[in-house]
Amino acid sequence: MAMLPTEEINRIQRTANIVDIIGSYINLEKKGKNYFGVCPFHDDHNPSMSVSEEKQLYTCFVCHATGTVFTFVQNYENVSFIEAVKIVADRVGIELDSGYKVTSKYDKHYELVDLAVKYYQNNLKSSDGKQAREYLKNRGLSEEVINDFAIGLAPKAPDNLTKLLINKGYSEEMLLDTGISNRGSTLYDLFRNRITFPIHNASGKPVGFSARIFDDSDEAKYINTRETKIFKKGEILFNYHRAQNEARRLKYLLVVEGQMDAVRIYSCGLKNVVATMGTALTNEHIKLLKKLNTTIVLCMDNDSAGEKATITNGELLADAQIDLKVLRISGAKDPDEYLLKYSVEEFKDAINHAISFFDFKLNYLKKNKNFSKVDDVSEYVNSVIAELNKTHDDILIDLTVNRLSEEYHIDRNILLNKIIKVETPKTEIIVKPKKIPKARRDKLFDMLIFYMMNGEKYIKLYEQELSYLPDEKYVAIAEDILAFFIKYNYINMADFITYEIDGDNYEKVLDIVDNYALIELNDGEYIGLIEKIKKLIDEERISKLREQLKRESDINAKLKIADEITRLKKRMCNL
Ligand code: UTP
Ligand code: MN
Repeated sequence: MAMLPTEEINRIQRTANIVDIIGSYINLEKKGKNYFGVCPFHDDHNPSMSVSEEKQLYTCFVCHATGTVFTFVQNYENVSFIEAVKIVADRVGIELDSGYKVTSKYDKHYELVDLAVKYYQNNLKSSDGKQAREYLKNRGLSEEVINDFAIGLAPKAPDNLTKLLINKGYSEEMLLDTGISNRGSTLYDLFRNRITFPIHNASGKPVGFSARIFDDSDEAKYINTRETKIFKKGEILFNYHRAQNEARRLKYLLVVEGQMDAVRIYSCGLKNVVATMGTALTNEHIKLLKKLNTTIVLCMDNDSAGEKATITNGELLADAQIDLKVLRISGAKDPDEYLLKYSVEEFKDAINHAISFFDFKLNYLKKNKNFSKVDDVSEYVNSVIAELNKTHDDILIDLTVNRLSEEYHIDRNILLNKIIKVETPKTEIIVKPKKIPKARRDKLFDMLIFYMMNGEKYIKLYEQELSYLPDEKYVAIAEDILAFFIKYNYINMADFITYEIDGDNYEKVLDIVDNYALIELNDGEYIGLIEKIKKLIDEERISKLREQLKRESDINAKLKIADEITRLKKRMCNL
């Protein structure tokens, strides 16, 4: 696939004036140097979003949404970053090849995982893959499905892939960083003698594997890539990248537990399916699901663990106000087995009969209760009332109260008295994240980074005068800025944000931009800032030395430390 280089994205960004593009979505009014509009990312009534033509950035001072023309389109239209780049390119008449993809600082990582994907695929097709191919065939997976999902086979040997990649010139560090290898006395392959299912992130880049045994060994059935910079299990749903467009089109998404379930459902023509890979949904998963703006049909395994997972996942989805249905399959232990036993039509029919989460909970509460016993009836009715007290839906409350009253011969008024009247909020109020006041130290570093993102001279001064910060997080950003500058020989905030988009520091960079977007740069102030940071570094060093001095017993060492303290103090006075 052709790459869309950062230069190209930046060219699009420069051609597209952020004011014109954002102005086509919301009304903007010029006030002084900047433009202001009603922020579309929170329930805004006053224009709290400012757009800077000069910096090509927007920032909302209420909900702190911040970013470039691309992130605006991405969030407004609910599309991926590259789709947003394409939309903007289209608007300004720049033609892009449909195969283009964005470059990011983890490209080497993705490339490496992709090589592993291909290696395992080839190995499955080789003569060594006979038994594994047999296994897949017995499970009813066609060659087409095996290719679609890039299913492969990790060889038995301990370090075939590791050696191959080292020979290709990849560093040991990269092999460990992507989770492809482990470190023993030497490096060895994490996956051995297992069928491999590649896992992709939301933009379709391969980031890791789930790998299954296929003989009757008594090892764990599946092992997965450990957490890496690009593989964060809590942020990844199996098959999300293939499912998202289809889910938007069909207006629902199936969420299942196992990747084999997703593979099976997909191969039956229902492409709008993702798998949680056996973990409980996290807030990051919920964000991915919420973005699709469709109904979620939760279809967990047909066992008590699946039932519990339906409750926990369902509560999270319901809290996030995602439209939710529950599908409980019967006659098979999971959707994979169901589709091997029954027809696709029967499965689709079951989807059409998926019940509401509330009805599911009512059924769940009935379990293990003996309704000829008064105690059990009372416990059940009280638990239903507790559920009703979580909802604002008057009609649902009324219907349920009627049903309970008829079914268990309880006076309606007694039930109604147990319902706590809550005022339904008229409009949904989004609670804005309050910014935590920053420590002086963080403020200084934030400002420094902000300046560095704004001009070559600030980067150079940093290198000459400091070239170091006593804080890992900030050092990492400063290094990214240097790397950007060395690579492209210029710097500006909008392009740097784009460069950071997939990286660990992205949120932090946006936070800094958000805090300082509207300040005027002033060289004198920057020099003052560097002096303050030097002082701070010395202060911190002195207090560390004082601690050391207290603990040190050797008199000569003590003198040395004291000398160093005096030297630093003198230097500070001269600053
Ligand atoms: P299941 O045990 O339901 O697996 O675990 P499955 O999907 O039915 O798998 P098959 O049909 O036997 O091949 C659900 C998911 O939990 C994760 C996997 O992602 C699996 O798909 N899991 C399961 C593990 O990570 N490790 C395990 O040992 C087992
Ligand atoms: Mn299964």
